[in-house]
Amino acid sequence: MNDFIFHNPDKVYFGKNQIKHLPQELLAFGKKVLLVYGGGSIKENGLYDEIVSLSKSADIELFELSGVEPNPRHSTVNKGASICKSKDIDVILAAGGGSTIDCAKGIAAAALTNDGNVWPLVSGGVWVTKALPLVAILTNAATGSEMDAWAVISNMDTNEKIGLGGSALIPRVAFENPEYSFTLPAYQTACGAFDIFNHVLDNYYFAGDATFDLLLEMQEAVMRTVVKWVPVAMKEPENYEARANLMWASSMALNTVLDGGTVHGCACHMMEHELSAYYDITHGHGLAILTPRWLSYILDNDTAPSIYRLGKTVFGVEDGLGTMDGAKKAIEAVSNFCFVTLGLESTLTDLQIDNMHFKAMAEHACMGGTISGLKMLSSSDVEKIYEMCL
Ligand code: NZQ
Ligand code: ZN
Repeated sequence: MNDFIFHNPDKVYFGKNQIKHLPQELLAFGKKVLLVYGGGSIKENGLYDEIVSLSKSADIELFELSGVEPNPRHSTVNKGASICKSKDIDVILAAGGGSTIDCAKGIAAAALTNDGNVWPLVSGGVWVTKALPLVAILTNAATGSEMDAWAVISNMDTNEKIGLGGSALIPRVAFENPEYSFTLPAYQTACGAFDIFNHVLDNYYFAGDATFDLLLEMQEAVMRTVVKWVPVAMKEPENYEARANLMWASSMALNTVLDGGTVHGCACHMMEHELSAYYDITHGHGLAILTPRWLSYILDNDTAPSIYRLGKTVFGVEDGLGTMDGAKKAIEAVSNFCFVTLGLESTLTDLQIDNMHFKAMAEHACMGGTISGLKMLSSSDVEKIYEMCL
Protein backbone atom coordinates (compact mmCIF):
# COMPACT_ATOMS: atom_id res chain seq x y z
CA MET A 1 0.00 0.00 0.00
CA ASN A 2 1.31 3.46 -0.92
CA ASP A 3 0.83 6.58 1.21
CA PHE A 4 -2.16 8.59 0.05
CA ILE A 5 -4.22 11.74 0.48
CA PHE A 6 -7.99 11.48 0.24
CA HIS A 7 -9.75 14.73 -0.58
CA ASN A 8 -13.09 14.92 -2.34
CA PRO A 9 -14.82 18.25 -1.74
CA ASP A 10 -18.09 17.32 -3.52
CA LYS A 11 -21.14 17.74 -1.26
CA VAL A 12 -23.73 15.11 -2.18
CA TYR A 13 -27.45 15.35 -1.51
CA PHE A 14 -28.68 11.79 -1.95
CA GLY A 15 -32.34 10.75 -2.00
CA LYS A 16 -35.91 11.65 -2.84
CA ASN A 17 -36.42 14.93 -1.07
CA GLN A 18 -33.20 16.78 -1.61
CA ILE A 19 -33.77 18.92 -4.68
CA LYS A 20 -35.38 21.62 -2.51
CA HIS A 21 -31.82 22.52 -1.46
CA LEU A 22 -30.86 23.40 -5.04
CA PRO A 23 -31.57 27.17 -4.88
CA GLN A 24 -29.50 27.73 -1.74
CA GLU A 25 -26.58 25.80 -3.22
CA LEU A 26 -26.70 27.72 -6.51
CA LEU A 27 -27.09 31.08 -4.81
CA ALA A 28 -23.92 30.43 -2.81
CA PHE A 29 -22.10 31.04 -6.12
CA GLY A 30 -24.38 33.70 -7.65
CA LYS A 31 -27.67 34.35 -9.41
CA LYS A 32 -26.72 33.72 -13.03
CA VAL A 33 -26.92 30.02 -13.79
CA LEU A 34 -26.25 28.16 -17.03
CA LEU A 35 -28.41 25.02 -17.13
CA VAL A 36 -26.79 22.34 -19.32
CA TYR A 37 -28.73 19.28 -20.46
CA GLY A 38 -28.96 16.67 -23.19
CA GLY A 39 -31.54 15.58 -25.74
CA GLY A 40 -34.64 16.04 -23.62
CA SER A 41 -34.87 13.20 -21.08
CA ILE A 42 -35.07 15.77 -18.27
CA LYS A 43 -38.15 17.27 -19.90
CA GLU A 44 -39.80 13.86 -20.04
CA ASN A 45 -39.15 12.93 -16.42
CA GLY A 46 -40.19 16.28 -14.94
CA LEU A 47 -36.76 17.34 -13.71
CA TYR A 48 -36.58 20.29 -16.09
CA ASP A 49 -39.86 21.74 -14.78
CA GLU A 50 -38.69 21.25 -11.22
CA ILE A 51 -35.45 23.15 -11.89
CA VAL A 52 -37.24 26.01 -13.62
CA SER A 53 -39.81 26.37 -10.87
CA LEU A 54 -37.23 26.24 -8.05
CA SER A 55 -35.10 28.82 -9.87
CA LYS A 56 -38.04 31.16 -10.37
CA SER A 57 -39.01 30.98 -6.73
CA ALA A 58 -35.45 31.95 -5.72
CA ASP A 59 -35.09 34.71 -8.31
CA ILE A 60 -32.33 32.85 -10.11
CA GLU A 61 -31.60 33.93 -13.69
CA LEU A 62 -31.49 30.74 -15.75
CA PHE A 63 -29.73 30.48 -19.14
CA GLU A 64 -29.73 27.23 -21.12
CA LEU A 65 -27.54 25.03 -23.27
CA SER A 66 -29.46 21.97 -24.46
CA GLY A 67 -28.71 19.18 -26.92
CA VAL A 68 -25.51 17.85 -25.34
CA GLU A 69 -24.71 14.67 -27.27
CA PRO A 70 -23.88 11.30 -25.76
CA ASN A 71 -20.06 11.38 -26.13
CA PRO A 72 -20.12 15.20 -25.82
CA ARG A 73 -18.40 17.19 -28.55
CA HIS A 74 -15.83 19.90 -28.00
CA SER A 75 -17.89 22.18 -30.26
CA THR A 76 -20.86 21.94 -27.86
CA VAL A 77 -18.57 22.68 -24.93
CA ASN A 78 -17.34 25.78 -26.75
CA LYS A 79 -20.92 26.97 -27.32
CA GLY A 80 -21.51 26.75 -23.58
CA ALA A 81 -18.28 28.62 -22.81
CA SER A 82 -19.34 31.38 -25.13
CA ILE A 83 -22.68 31.75 -23.28
CA CYS A 84 -20.79 31.91 -19.98
CA LYS A 85 -18.59 34.70 -21.27
CA SER A 86 -21.34 36.75 -22.88
CA LYS A 87 -23.81 36.39 -20.00
CA ASP A 88 -21.30 36.55 -17.18
CA ILE A 89 -22.47 33.24 -15.72
CA ASP A 90 -21.71 32.57 -12.03
CA VAL A 91 -22.34 28.84 -11.81
CA ILE A 92 -23.09 25.94 -14.15
CA LEU A 93 -25.88 23.47 -13.42
CA ALA A 94 -25.62 20.14 -15.26
CA ALA A 95 -28.73 17.92 -15.29
CA GLY A 96 -28.31 14.53 -16.92
CA GLY A 97 -25.91 11.65 -17.37
CA GLY A 98 -22.14 11.61 -17.69
CA SER A 99 -22.15 13.27 -21.09
CA THR A 100 -24.02 16.30 -19.82
CA ILE A 101 -21.92 16.60 -16.67
CA ASP A 102 -18.70 16.16 -18.66
CA CYS A 103 -19.78 18.82 -21.14
CA ALA A 104 -20.53 21.16 -18.24
CA LYS A 105 -17.08 20.51 -16.78
CA GLY A 106 -15.51 21.38 -20.12
CA ILE A 107 -17.57 24.57 -20.22
CA ALA A 108 -16.55 25.46 -16.67
CA ALA A 109 -12.89 25.22 -17.66
CA ALA A 110 -13.10 26.81 -21.12
CA ALA A 111 -15.16 29.75 -19.82
CA LEU A 112 -12.14 30.98 -17.89
CA THR A 113 -9.72 30.83 -20.84
CA ASN A 114 -9.11 33.78 -23.16
CA ASP A 115 -10.50 32.20 -26.30
CA GLY A 116 -13.18 29.98 -24.71
CA ASN A 117 -11.87 26.95 -26.61
CA VAL A 118 -11.73 23.71 -24.64
CA TRP A 119 -9.77 21.66 -27.15
CA PRO A 120 -6.28 23.00 -26.41
CA LEU A 121 -6.89 22.11 -22.73
CA VAL A 122 -8.03 18.60 -23.65
CA SER A 123 -5.39 17.81 -26.26
CA GLY A 124 -2.67 19.50 -24.23
CA GLY A 125 -3.39 17.35 -21.17
CA VAL A 126 -3.77 20.46 -19.02
CA TRP A 127 -4.67 19.77 -15.35
CA VAL A 128 -7.47 22.25 -14.70
CA THR A 129 -7.12 24.21 -11.47
CA LYS A 130 -9.35 27.14 -12.43
CA ALA A 131 -12.97 26.74 -13.53
CA LEU A 132 -16.43 28.08 -12.89
CA PRO A 133 -18.23 26.23 -10.08
CA LEU A 134 -20.38 23.32 -11.14
CA VAL A 135 -23.48 21.78 -9.56
CA ALA A 136 -24.60 18.41 -10.98
CA ILE A 137 -27.95 16.63 -10.92
CA LEU A 138 -27.39 13.01 -11.89
CA THR A 139 -29.94 11.05 -13.92
CA ASN A 140 -27.87 8.03 -15.01
CA ALA A 141 -25.86 5.77 -12.72
CA ALA A 142 -22.76 5.16 -14.77
CA THR A 143 -19.70 7.33 -15.14
CA GLY A 144 -18.98 8.71 -11.69
CA SER A 145 -18.67 12.16 -13.24
CA GLU A 146 -20.97 13.48 -10.49
CA MET A 147 -18.13 13.03 -7.99
CA ASP A 148 -14.90 12.90 -9.96
CA ALA A 149 -12.33 15.22 -11.46
CA TRP A 150 -12.69 14.10 -15.09
CA ALA A 151 -14.57 15.03 -18.23
CA VAL A 152 -14.28 13.01 -21.41
CA ILE A 153 -14.61 15.20 -24.50
CA SER A 154 -14.82 14.09 -28.14
CA ASN A 155 -13.51 15.79 -31.25
CA MET A 156 -15.20 14.00 -34.12
CA ASP A 157 -13.16 15.95 -36.71
CA THR A 158 -10.00 14.23 -35.53
CA ASN A 159 -11.51 10.98 -34.14
CA GLU A 160 -10.24 11.80 -30.68
CA LYS A 161 -11.93 11.24 -27.34
CA ILE A 162 -9.76 12.35 -24.45
CA GLY A 163 -10.10 12.88 -20.72
CA LEU A 164 -9.74 16.39 -19.33
CA GLY A 165 -8.87 16.30 -15.65
CA GLY A 166 -8.47 18.78 -12.86
CA SER A 167 -9.25 19.43 -9.23
CA ALA A 168 -11.39 22.41 -10.30
CA LEU A 169 -13.66 20.09 -12.30
CA ILE A 170 -15.04 18.18 -9.32
CA PRO A 171 -18.65 19.29 -8.90
CA ARG A 172 -19.04 21.48 -5.80
CA VAL A 173 -22.43 19.90 -5.13
CA ALA A 174 -24.21 16.86 -6.58
CA PHE A 175 -27.84 15.85 -6.30
CA GLU A 176 -28.47 12.13 -6.62
CA ASN A 177 -32.11 11.14 -6.61
CA PRO A 178 -32.49 7.53 -7.77
CA GLU A 179 -36.02 8.41 -8.96
CA TYR A 180 -34.51 10.56 -11.71
CA SER A 181 -33.14 7.36 -13.24
CA PHE A 182 -36.50 5.52 -13.33
CA THR A 183 -37.00 6.59 -16.96
CA LEU A 184 -33.73 5.10 -18.19
CA PRO A 185 -34.26 2.46 -20.88
CA ALA A 186 -32.97 -1.04 -20.06
CA TYR A 187 -30.14 -0.66 -22.59
CA GLN A 188 -28.78 2.51 -20.95
CA THR A 189 -29.25 0.93 -17.52
CA ALA A 190 -27.17 -2.05 -18.63
CA CYS A 191 -24.46 0.07 -20.26
CA GLY A 192 -24.24 2.41 -17.27
CA ALA A 193 -24.01 -0.50 -14.85
CA PHE A 194 -21.25 -2.13 -16.81
CA ASP A 195 -19.36 1.15 -16.85
CA ILE A 196 -19.48 1.20 -13.03
CA PHE A 197 -18.37 -2.43 -12.89
CA ASN A 198 -15.45 -1.77 -15.20
CA HIS A 199 -14.28 1.34 -13.35
CA VAL A 200 -13.72 -0.91 -10.36
CA LEU A 201 -12.39 -3.89 -12.30
CA ASP A 202 -9.79 -1.86 -14.19
CA ASN A 203 -8.58 -0.57 -10.85
CA TYR A 204 -8.89 -3.84 -8.89
CA TYR A 205 -6.38 -5.53 -11.13
CA PHE A 206 -4.08 -2.61 -11.52
CA ALA A 207 -3.63 -2.32 -7.79
CA GLY A 208 -1.50 -5.46 -7.68
CA ASP A 209 0.89 -5.41 -4.74
CA ALA A 210 0.05 -1.79 -3.93
CA THR A 211 -3.39 -2.67 -2.65
CA PHE A 212 -4.61 -3.59 0.81
CA ASP A 213 -7.34 -5.79 2.12
CA LEU A 214 -9.96 -3.18 3.01
CA LEU A 215 -9.76 -1.73 -0.47
CA LEU A 216 -10.08 -5.07 -2.25
CA GLU A 217 -13.10 -5.93 -0.13
CA MET A 218 -14.70 -2.57 -0.89
CA GLN A 219 -14.03 -2.95 -4.61
CA GLU A 220 -15.59 -6.39 -4.56
CA ALA A 221 -18.61 -5.05 -2.67
CA VAL A 222 -19.19 -2.39 -5.33
CA MET A 223 -18.89 -4.94 -8.15
CA ARG A 224 -21.21 -7.37 -6.33
CA THR A 225 -23.72 -4.57 -5.85
CA VAL A 226 -23.79 -3.90 -9.58
CA VAL A 227 -24.13 -7.60 -10.42
CA LYS A 228 -26.96 -7.97 -7.90
CA TRP A 229 -29.02 -4.89 -8.66
CA VAL A 230 -28.74 -4.23 -12.38
CA PRO A 231 -31.00 -7.13 -13.41
CA VAL A 232 -33.60 -5.82 -10.95
CA ALA A 233 -33.39 -2.27 -12.34
CA MET A 234 -33.69 -3.60 -15.90
CA LYS A 235 -36.80 -5.61 -15.05
CA GLU A 236 -38.36 -3.10 -12.68
CA PRO A 237 -37.20 0.36 -13.78
CA GLU A 238 -38.96 2.02 -10.83
CA ASN A 239 -37.43 -0.16 -8.14
CA TYR A 240 -35.97 2.51 -5.83
CA GLU A 241 -33.66 0.14 -3.96
CA ALA A 242 -32.10 -1.07 -7.20
CA ARG A 243 -31.68 2.43 -8.64
CA ALA A 244 -30.27 3.73 -5.35
CA ASN A 245 -27.70 0.97 -5.09
CA LEU A 246 -26.56 1.56 -8.66
CA MET A 247 -26.41 5.32 -8.24
CA TRP A 248 -24.26 5.27 -5.14
CA ALA A 249 -22.10 2.54 -6.67
CA SER A 250 -21.52 4.88 -9.62
CA SER A 251 -20.20 7.59 -7.31
CA MET A 252 -18.15 5.21 -5.16
CA ALA A 253 -16.43 3.66 -8.17
CA LEU A 254 -14.63 6.84 -9.20
CA ASN A 255 -14.69 9.30 -6.32
CA THR A 256 -11.20 8.01 -5.35
CA VAL A 257 -12.42 6.21 -2.21
CA LEU A 258 -11.35 3.01 -3.99
CA ASP A 259 -8.00 4.43 -5.10
CA GLY A 260 -6.45 4.94 -1.65
CA GLY A 261 -2.89 3.70 -1.60
CA THR A 262 -3.03 2.30 -5.14
CA VAL A 263 -2.49 3.67 -8.62
CA HIS A 264 -5.56 4.04 -10.77
CA GLY A 265 -5.65 1.70 -13.75
CA CYS A 266 -7.81 1.97 -16.85
CA ALA A 267 -6.81 -0.59 -19.47
CA CYS A 268 -10.28 -1.27 -20.86
CA HIS A 269 -11.13 2.43 -20.71
CA MET A 270 -8.14 3.44 -22.81
CA MET A 271 -9.16 0.85 -25.41
CA GLU A 272 -12.85 1.77 -25.33
CA HIS A 273 -12.40 5.49 -25.76
CA GLU A 274 -10.92 4.77 -29.20
CA LEU A 275 -14.03 2.80 -30.16
CA SER A 276 -16.37 5.62 -29.22
CA ALA A 277 -14.06 8.21 -30.79
CA TYR A 278 -14.17 6.42 -34.15
CA TYR A 279 -17.65 4.94 -34.08
CA ASP A 280 -19.65 7.01 -31.56
CA ILE A 281 -20.84 3.88 -29.73
CA THR A 282 -22.22 3.76 -26.17
CA HIS A 283 -19.27 3.72 -23.77
CA GLY A 284 -20.53 0.94 -21.45
CA HIS A 285 -21.36 -1.33 -24.38
CA GLY A 286 -17.86 -0.97 -25.81
CA LEU A 287 -16.44 -1.82 -22.38
CA ALA A 288 -18.64 -4.93 -22.12
CA ILE A 289 -17.38 -6.22 -25.46
CA LEU A 290 -13.76 -5.58 -24.53
CA THR A 291 -13.62 -6.74 -20.92
CA PRO A 292 -13.96 -10.54 -21.24
CA ARG A 293 -11.52 -10.51 -24.20
CA TRP A 294 -9.04 -8.41 -22.24
CA LEU A 295 -9.25 -10.84 -19.31
CA SER A 296 -8.67 -13.80 -21.64
CA TYR A 297 -5.74 -12.02 -23.26
CA ILE A 298 -3.97 -11.21 -19.99
CA LEU A 299 -4.68 -14.59 -18.40
CA ASP A 300 -1.49 -16.42 -17.41
CA ASN A 301 0.03 -17.94 -14.29
CA ASP A 302 0.68 -14.49 -12.80
CA THR A 303 -2.78 -13.06 -13.34
CA ALA A 304 -4.86 -16.22 -12.78
CA PRO A 305 -5.06 -15.88 -8.96
CA SER A 306 -6.56 -12.35 -9.15
CA ILE A 307 -8.99 -13.36 -11.87
CA TYR A 308 -10.07 -16.45 -9.92
CA ARG A 309 -10.54 -14.31 -6.80
CA LEU A 310 -12.84 -12.00 -8.80
CA GLY A 311 -14.86 -15.03 -9.91
CA LYS A 312 -15.22 -16.33 -6.36
CA THR A 313 -16.00 -13.09 -4.60
CA VAL A 314 -18.18 -11.38 -7.20
CA PHE A 315 -19.77 -14.16 -9.23
CA GLY A 316 -19.83 -17.08 -6.79
CA VAL A 317 -17.47 -19.33 -8.75
CA GLU A 318 -16.77 -22.37 -6.55
CA ASP A 319 -13.75 -22.51 -4.28
CA GLY A 320 -11.12 -25.26 -4.56
CA LEU A 321 -10.60 -25.31 -8.33
CA GLY A 322 -7.14 -25.17 -9.86
CA THR A 323 -6.16 -21.54 -10.24
CA MET A 324 -6.20 -21.57 -14.03
CA ASP A 325 -9.53 -23.43 -14.24
CA GLY A 326 -11.01 -21.08 -11.66
CA ALA A 327 -9.82 -18.04 -13.60
CA LYS A 328 -11.36 -19.42 -16.80
CA LYS A 329 -14.67 -19.90 -15.00
CA ALA A 330 -14.44 -16.32 -13.73
CA ILE A 331 -14.00 -15.02 -17.29
CA GLU A 332 -16.96 -17.11 -18.39
CA ALA A 333 -19.00 -15.52 -15.59
CA VAL A 334 -18.00 -12.00 -16.68
CA SER A 335 -18.94 -12.88 -20.24
CA ASN A 336 -22.34 -14.27 -19.17
CA PHE A 337 -22.96 -11.15 -17.14
CA CYS A 338 -22.28 -8.93 -20.18
CA PHE A 339 -24.07 -10.86 -22.86
CA VAL A 340 -26.76 -12.87 -21.06
CA THR A 341 -27.72 -10.91 -17.92
CA LEU A 342 -27.25 -7.49 -19.52
CA GLY A 343 -28.28 -8.79 -22.95
CA LEU A 344 -25.68 -6.71 -24.77
CA GLU A 345 -24.57 -7.64 -28.28
CA SER A 346 -21.27 -9.38 -27.87
CA THR A 347 -19.05 -8.40 -30.79
CA LEU A 348 -17.79 -5.32 -32.56
CA THR A 349 -19.14 -6.88 -35.76
CA ASP A 350 -22.62 -6.63 -34.20
CA LEU A 351 -21.98 -2.88 -33.93
CA GLN A 352 -20.86 -2.71 -37.58
CA ILE A 353 -17.24 -2.17 -36.62
CA ASP A 354 -14.51 -3.86 -38.67
CA ASN A 355 -10.74 -3.89 -38.33
CA MET A 356 -10.10 -0.94 -40.65
CA HIS A 357 -8.86 1.47 -37.95
CA PHE A 358 -7.56 -0.99 -35.35
CA LYS A 359 -3.90 -0.15 -35.88
CA ALA A 360 -4.40 3.61 -35.54
CA MET A 361 -6.78 3.14 -32.60
CA ALA A 362 -4.33 0.85 -30.80
CA GLU A 363 -1.47 3.27 -31.30
CA HIS A 364 -3.54 6.18 -30.02
CA ALA A 365 -4.80 4.17 -27.02
CA CYS A 366 -1.18 3.55 -26.02
CA MET A 367 -0.18 7.17 -26.67
CA GLY A 368 3.22 6.15 -27.94
CA GLY A 369 3.92 3.91 -24.93
CA THR A 370 2.08 1.15 -23.16
CA ILE A 371 -1.22 0.96 -21.27
CA SER A 372 -0.45 0.17 -17.67
CA GLY A 373 -2.37 -2.42 -15.72
CA LEU A 374 -1.86 -5.85 -14.26
CA LYS A 375 -0.28 -6.63 -17.63
CA MET A 376 1.32 -3.82 -19.61
CA LEU A 377 -0.27 -3.64 -23.05
CA SER A 378 1.63 -2.51 -26.14
CA SER A 379 -0.19 -1.27 -29.22
CA SER A 380 0.21 -4.69 -30.83
CA ASP A 381 -1.45 -6.28 -27.74
CA VAL A 382 -4.30 -3.80 -28.02
CA GLU A 383 -4.72 -4.55 -31.72
CA LYS A 384 -4.97 -8.26 -30.91
CA ILE A 385 -7.61 -7.59 -28.23
CA TYR A 386 -9.65 -5.56 -30.74
CA GLU A 387 -9.37 -8.48 -33.20
CA MET A 388 -10.69 -10.86 -30.50
CA CYS A 389 -13.80 -8.64 -30.26
CA LEU A 390 -14.82 -9.02 -33.92
O1 NZQ B 1 -29.45 13.32 -23.63
P1 NZQ B 1 -30.60 12.87 -22.82
O2 NZQ B 1 -31.91 13.22 -23.39
O3 NZQ B 1 -30.48 13.27 -21.37
O4 NZQ B 1 -30.60 11.25 -22.88
C1 NZQ B 1 -29.54 10.45 -22.38
C2 NZQ B 1 -28.70 9.82 -23.49
O5 NZQ B 1 -29.43 9.62 -24.65
C3 NZQ B 1 -30.15 9.23 -21.74
N1 NZQ B 1 -30.53 9.44 -20.35
C4 NZQ B 1 -29.76 9.87 -19.32
N2 NZQ B 1 -30.48 9.88 -18.19
C5 NZQ B 1 -31.73 9.46 -18.52
C6 NZQ B 1 -31.75 9.19 -19.91
N3 NZQ B 1 -32.86 8.75 -20.54
C7 NZQ B 1 -33.97 8.58 -19.80
N4 NZQ B 1 -34.01 8.80 -18.47
C8 NZQ B 1 -32.93 9.24 -17.79
N5 NZQ B 1 -32.98 9.42 -16.48
O6 NZQ B 1 -29.14 8.23 -21.79
C9 NZQ B 1 -28.34 8.45 -22.94
C10 NZQ B 1 -26.90 8.35 -22.52
O7 NZQ B 1 -26.55 9.41 -21.65
P2 NZQ B 1 -25.03 9.73 -21.36
O8 NZQ B 1 -24.97 10.89 -20.48
O9 NZQ B 1 -24.29 9.77 -22.65
O10 NZQ B 1 -24.57 8.38 -20.61
P3 NZQ B 1 -23.47 8.16 -19.54
O11 NZQ B 1 -23.92 8.67 -18.23
O12 NZQ B 1 -23.13 6.74 -19.65
O13 NZQ B 1 -22.22 9.07 -20.01
C11 NZQ B 1 -21.34 8.61 -21.02
C12 NZQ B 1 -20.21 9.60 -21.25
O14 NZQ B 1 -19.39 9.75 -20.09
C13 NZQ B 1 -18.02 9.43 -20.41
C14 NZQ B 1 -18.20 8.40 -21.51
O15 NZQ B 1 -17.01 8.20 -22.23
C15 NZQ B 1 -19.29 9.05 -22.33
O16 NZQ B 1 -18.79 10.09 -23.12
N6 NZQ B 1 -17.29 8.99 -19.21
C16 NZQ B 1 -17.01 9.92 -18.28
C17 NZQ B 1 -16.24 9.64 -17.19
C18 NZQ B 1 -15.90 10.66 -16.19
N7 NZQ B 1 -16.37 11.88 -16.32
O17 NZQ B 1 -15.16 10.38 -15.26
C19 NZQ B 1 -15.65 8.33 -16.96
C20 NZQ B 1 -16.29 7.27 -17.77
O18 NZQ B 1 -15.40 6.19 -17.84
C21 NZQ B 1 -16.69 7.68 -19.15
O19 NZQ B 1 -15.60 7.65 -20.03
ZN1 ZN C 1 -16.28 4.46 -17.89
